[in-house]
Amino acid sequence: MRNGAFYNTAMSDLAGKHIVVTGASAGIGAELCRQLGRLGCRLTLTARRRKLLGDVTEEIRRAGGEACYETCDVTERDEVFELAEFARGHFGEIDVWVSNAGGGMRHRLLEAEEEDMQLMFRLNCLSSLWAYQAVAVPWIEQGRGGQLIDVSSVGGKAGFAYGGGYCAAKHALSGMGDVLRQELARTGITLTTVYPGLTESEFGAALIDRTASDKSLRTEVMSRRAPWFVRLMAAKQPTAHVARAIVHAIRRPVPFVYPHRWAACAALLYNLWPNLLLSRLNRPRRTSSDGK
Ligand SMILES: NC(=O)c1ccc[n+]([C@@H]2O[C@H](COP(=O)([O-])OP(=O)(O)OC[C@H]3O[C@@H](n4cnc5c(N)ncnc54)[C@H](OP(=O)(O)O)[C@@H]3O)[C@@H](O)[C@H]2O)c1
Repeated sequence: MRNGAFYNTAMSDLAGKHIVVTGASAGIGAELCRQLGRLGCRLTLTARRRKLLGDVTEEIRRAGGEACYETCDVTERDEVFELAEFARGHFGEIDVWVSNAGGGMRHRLLEAEEEDMQLMFRLNCLSSLWAYQAVAVPWIEQGRGGQLIDVSSVGGKAGFAYGGGYCAAKHALSGMGDVLRQELARTGITLTTVYPGLTESEFGAALIDRTASDKSLRTEVMSRRAPWFVRLMAAKQPTAHVARAIVHAIRRPVPFVYPHRWAACAALLYNLWPNLLLSRLNRPRRTSSDGK
């Protein structure tokens, strides 16, 4: 192991590895499966939309890859365990589990419904916990290693207005990852947390918007002149870019991956100098009457 590296970072060949990817019907997950299929992995795809899963699976098979699929709602613990059983039944023991399924919500935190908060936590955080339990426990019992990958978000490092449930759940996911990484030390099981920035996917369209009828909020957001670091983060990255970063992390396990360079810088700055950045975010806006 390289001096100071948390994991053994030697490159591994991916051919033949059995990889489960959640949220594989669209966006980052579907693109990740396409890339892994081309590298000779055996893939179990899952999400809720059967038709889309079938289409992506067919595409992978046509390109010479090995893939199967099963639907699973990752907000349901039993379904996650059943999916792990299905995957083992199809391709044998799982080598890598990518918890990528996720989704956002736009709401005012002061008005957040408990049900909405629970959905955000089940979808963006607890689904990973259930995956850890469904696959890492058998790995330990068998005395074998394995890889867990969680797709978090820069929103899991630095919260943003009206993303309360989502940011809180992704922060909790980061905390859970930090804990499990240490609890799994010396087991041969690695855990990587991936922090994408804004990405071209269905994420925005699938977002649950509790503020749709709130015109005052729309006006407030539109009239904001975002600080420079928020504008740098706002450039969307292609799903292929994020998927490549995940493939690289499967080849060479590391604890953290930041696919979006500017988002990584902003999150790092936020963690180093939160007061400075928050003062920029909350600075009073200039109006047309200013400067008179
Ligand atoms: N796009 C961004 O800007 C961005 C930024 C940072 C982090 N991320 C994270 O990246 C991950 C992938 O998102 P994406 O951008 O690829 O979004 P996406 O295109 O909307 O894909 C989300 C995937 O999750 C699945 N999914 C949603 N709810 C599910 C549930 N209850 N059970 C099982 N599967 C479910 C969806 O499939 P079904 O609808 O078929 O179930 C879909 O395959 C998420 O964890 C997201 O938080 C995205």
